[in-house]
Amino acid sequence: MGKFLVEGRHPLSGRISINGAKNSALKLMVAALLGHGTFRLENVPRITDVETMAGVLRALGVEVHFTSDLLKLDVSSVRGQTPEALVKAMRASVQVMGPLLARLGRVEVARPGGCNIGSRPLDIHLAGFEQMGAKIEVKDDRFVARAPRLHGADITFRYPSVGATENIMMAATMAKGRTIIRNAAREPEIIDIQDFLNGMGAQVQGAGTPVITIDGVRELGATDFSVVPDRIEAGTYLLAFLITGGSGTVEHVVPDHLAPLLDLLEAMGAGVEIREGEVSVVSPPALKSFQVSTGPYPGFPTDMQPQVVALATQAEGRSELKEVVFDRRFGYTLELNKLGANIAPNNRAVFIQGKTDLSGASLTAGDLRGGAALVLGALAAEGQSIIGDIEHIDRGYEAMEERLQGVGAKIQRLAD
Ligand code: UD1
Repeated sequence: MGKFLVEGRHPLSGRISINGAKNSALKLMVAALLGHGTFRLENVPRITDVETMAGVLRALGVEVHFTSDLLKLDVSSVRGQTPEALVKAMRASVQVMGPLLARLGRVEVARPGGCNIGSRPLDIHLAGFEQMGAKIEVKDDRFVARAPRLHGADITFRYPSVGATENIMMAATMAKGRTIIRNAAREPEIIDIQDFLNGMGAQVQGAGTPVITIDGVRELGATDFSVVPDRIEAGTYLLAFLITGGSGTVEHVVPDHLAPLLDLLEAMGAGVEIREGEVSVVSPPALKSFQVSTGPYPGFPTDMQPQVVALATQAEGRSELKEVVFDRRFGYTLELNKLGANIAPNNRAVFIQGKTDLSGASLTAGDLRGGAALVLGALAAEGQSIIGDIEHIDRGYEAMEERLQGVGAKIQRLAD
């Protein structure tokens, strides 16, 4: 477990090249479990969640080679069970359920861990599998699902869950007949997985809309693919420029995917310039406060919620943010208050009184995006801050300190 030492109040400027999306790469890795042959995945971020998922795949008999941003997967036979310790370390492991159920007819997974941001039940996933003919048992802390061959079903989600949409899409690729998912999630990562599955020979259409249709096929092959840019990594670095009063550009992004965030930044008074594949921001003389609510895509992303709350500490006036996707996602606000911020969480909303002069403090990251918010707060604070438990940050940001050093930040990784 390392720490970051941050000396704040240095305006950042420059360019940051954005990696492939964590939340797509992890799902493409598990989708490969449905296929046969050699996959070459490009633009894969070197983050610990990808390493953890590589461990899960290896335990299932997949050969995994990861060099630079190229991940090579050789899938021949898939066997056995998911290693429990790995599953517990990462919520996305629940995604192996869909592919393994489709491929092996049985899957047993430990109830997954992941970020500590609310209850995160799996009822939508499990109800979908059941509608496709699976029998599911809950044994203590694990789920066991069985289905000799899944069949197609017309499934209406009570909520557009990202993970459930992906899981049912994957399971349905090899089910007998047609599956329709209604009220599906519309995130860009869902389109990525559709394109990936279709590259393997699946017949999926409609991703990016609320209705996804999957016609089951008997067998899937392999494909080469480049992972969609990470809109949350990009958004986090745009905020790093603005929270320090600086200006800069993120490149290798899909600007459309950043639209809900860019709209908010413009409303706060920031200069926003969009060019093909890149977005620049310029700090205004004063940032304005805002009101925003998170929501499923194309709503404001919950994964940008902590970072934008950090930015609100530097905006004039009272900002209000409603969190409607997850409960209990405000733990990091106590830490930001240690820097001198004035943030009051209240049930599902958080109120931020700005602008506050932040000064360095000793902080502890409690989850991935909350950890990123602490780095932003520290970059805006006078003097030195220490941020502990940065393994949470390493789950989803590749060498964050190096990216930030490249644009002028004073940040170092300290060994424990
Ligand atoms: C994914 C992302 C996560 C992001 C989230 C919402 C990955 C690895 N993680 O998480 O970073 O914050 O989308 O954009 O891709 N829910 C249920 N029952 C279910 C499933 C979900 O009630 O069966 C609830 C959850 O508790 C949560 C909400 O639905 O309150 C959203 O969850 P979901 O969209 O499934 O998010 P994840 O796929 O877990």
